[in-house]
Amino acid sequence: MQTLLIATWNRHKTREIGQMLGAGWDVRDLASLPHAPKVEETGATFEENATLKALTISRIFTGLVLADDSGLEVDALSGAPGVHSARFAGPNASDAENRFLLIGKLRSFGGNEFPARFRCVMVLASRGELLGSFTGIIHGSIILEERGESGFGYDSVFVPAGYAETFGELQSEIKNSLSHRGRALAKVVEFFRS
Ligand code: IMP
Repeated sequence: MQTLLIATWNRHKTREIGQMLGAGWDVRDLASLPHAPKVEETGATFEENATLKALTISRIFTGLVLADDSGLEVDALSGAPGVHSARFAGPNASDAENRFLLIGKLRSFGGNEFPARFRCVMVLASRGELLGSFTGIIHGSIILEERGESGFGYDSVFVPAGYAETFGELQSEIKNSLSHRGRALAKVVEFFRS
């Protein structure tokens, strides 16, 4: 059994990564390291933030560490919320508050669908050393009415290209097979194999 520590407190990310890796992996997150330092996401890019998280945590954990920094980029908002996706409506904003702000901003443009993408950068590190950086992107559009209960973040307003359902309506297996996180993780797995 291989242990992989995900440098996150976001249990949704940990659950998705655990589901995708499947048996053979002991996937943990920062809930198993309660004294882990809080990493401020001060980077201007997903890659910078993922690197900060992976390096900081890999200095206090003697195993493989994977950091995921991800978010939503909306064309009509010049790429926002981007690296600020988790705190779009303020430092302690809930997912529902972030979606509310997003829908409100887009409503003022007119129209029902807004081209957007989710981007995920995963950085793998061990004992303070970077092992690699892996990016996954899924294109789609933002709708102005929330649909679906599953997932987290902006899932209920994001319709992946080629589908009629939102990520919040699709089964988790389907979301994982398409998602930015699934695509980045497939590259991580390829790296482990090679
Ligand atoms: P991070 O923890 O700084 O990487 O912030 C990630 C934020 O981006 C989350 O809090 C969500 O708002 C958004 N996000 C990232 N991945 C997803 C996803 O798969 N579905 C919906 N929202 C996501």
